[in-house]
Amino acid sequence: MMYDENKIIPMIIIFVALVTFPLWYNLGKAAPKPDPKIDTPVIQALQNKQCIEPKAAMKTTHMKILDEWRNDVVRGDYSRQMTTADGRVFEKSLQNGCMKCHSNKTKFCDQCHNYMEVKPFCWDCHIAPKETN
Ligand code: HEC
Ligand code: HEC
Ligand code: HEC
Repeated sequence: MMYDENKIIPMIIIFVALVTFPLWYNLGKAAPKPDPKIDTPVIQALQNKQCIEPKAAMKTTHMKILDEWRNDVVRGDYSRQMTTADGRVFEKSLQNGCMKCHSNKTKFCDQCHNYMEVKPFCWDCHIAPKETN
């Protein structure tokens, strides 16, 4: 008998596990599930902590809303305000609309975008909110 089969197999398994450790160790760590935070001063002060549309709709359509707002403002009817079905009025603006409430860009927008590897180019021109810490 050249080698002890009872030992070689477990040793190969341990060796493979050690060599590939950085790969599977990082699987869980590199991409923590996004956890968008809504604890901003403006949202805290809201009586009803709602977005302009219900949360589920915002999740999937916020980019379309922004696109429509931009089109209205820049080359549409030039209207700068919108009224929701329940009568709340918002400015059609990235900075003065969305980011007034979501002033924590890194802890909100970036949470999902980094996870999904989406990189909106908006901040090349639009000013991101100033954030502390
Ligand atoms: C009046 C303040 C306010 C404005 C303005 C606002 N939001 Fe929100 N947003 C909220 C609140 C509060 C929530 C959490 C709603 C909930 O939990 O039901 C939220 C939720 C969301 C969500 C879902 C987050 C999640 O965890 O799934 C997205 C995406 C979002 N907002 C994007 C935007 C964008 C983009 C704009 C501008 C087009 C915008 N919001 C404008 C207050 C606001
Ligand atoms: C709950 C997760 C989530 C949150 C919170 C969120 N987004 Fe997004 N956003 C996405 C996803 C997912 C996409 C990509 C959708 C697609 O590719 O169809 C996206 C795409 C976008 C796009 C289009 C980008 C492109 O290149 O096509 C814009 C603009 C955008 N988000 C703005 C915002 C802003 C501004 C905020 C913060 C106020 C925000 N999003 C918060 C998930 C989120
Ligand atoms: C090349 C520069 C540039 C880029 C990139 C850009 N914008 Fe704009 N955007 C502008 C300018 C200029 C205006 C007109 C400002 C005004 O009239 O108030 C504008 C207006 C807007 C408006 C309406 C006015 C306001 O205050 O926000 C929205 C909404 C908007 N852009 C969303 C976006 C989004 C979303 C992205 C990224 C997907 C984006 N923009 C990328 C330059 C840019």
